Amino acid sequence: MDMSASEQARSGPMELGQPYDPVSRAFHWLVVALVLVQVTIALVLPSILPKSAEDSIAAWHLATGSTILLVMLLRFAWRLTHPMPPAPADLSPGLRILARATHWAFYLVLILLPLIGWMAANAYGTTPRLLGLIPLPRLLAPDQAAAETIGGVHKVVAALLLALIATHVSGALYHALVKRDGVIWRMVPGRTRV
Ligand code: HEM
Ligand code: HEM
Repeated sequence: MDMSASEQARSGPMELGQPYDPVSRAFHWLVVALVLVQVTIALVLPSILPKSAEDSIAAWHLATGSTILLVMLLRFAWRLTHPMPPAPADLSPGLRILARATHWAFYLVLILLPLIGWMAANAYGTTPRLLGLIPLPRLLAPDQAAAETIGGVHKVVAALLLALIATHVSGALYHALVKRDGVIWRMVPGRTRV
């Protein structure tokens, strides 16, 4: 029988058959979409475009990136104040640690990476706009050498994010195609049981 979130809260700890709450699922897929857009923009930016187009695409990178920062701060607050379903009981300790570490690393990286990008943009002399509209306060004064260093750190952390995504998606596919244990359904919108 299906249980509503409030019945679940009364009846004790969450079980494997319980999906993530609808807000967590909405946050998950919103961030996936934003990160896909952001990585695509970042990768086409440097090479194939004339200078004027480059500038407008760069503005998109700052707008989408600062939106990711805002959404991740809200998501993190939600994460810390709501119960999440437990890992499957038969998961080996190694994989359990890998999954938890990957999840927490996503929160860390998806908050730090936009902050570092914001600092790099300031150092390059640009003001990022939240949602492309609201100018963000300046964290650093313009300084070309600092900009290049911080921009380099930003690129390394972005590469780390791609490694996390590869690990995470491999895990999701392992559960969906090899173990077939229903874990994948816990993040799919609309499901009440997995
Ligand atoms: C999850 C969010 C983000 C991801 C995945 C991301 C990814 C990247 C990547 C891969 C590059 C390298 C592009 C190249 O090959 O040159 C880059 C460059 C850059 N990003 Fe981001 N970025 C994010 C958020 C932000 C934010 C929020 C800002 C500013 C508010 C920002 C500002 C910059 C700047 C200024 C550069 C150029 C760095 C340089 O060439 O020195 N990024 N970003
Ligand atoms: C940018 C890409 C992605 C990011 C940043 C991301 C991030 C996350 C995070 C942080 C969690 C943990 C939620 C929490 O406990 O707070 C999670 C869980 C999950 N993600 Fe992703 N994800 C991404 C892509 C995907 C994709 C493409 C799939 C499906 C193929 C997927 C499937 C899942 C599933 C099934 C869970 C639940 C795992 C469990 O029940 O323990 N994710 N994701």
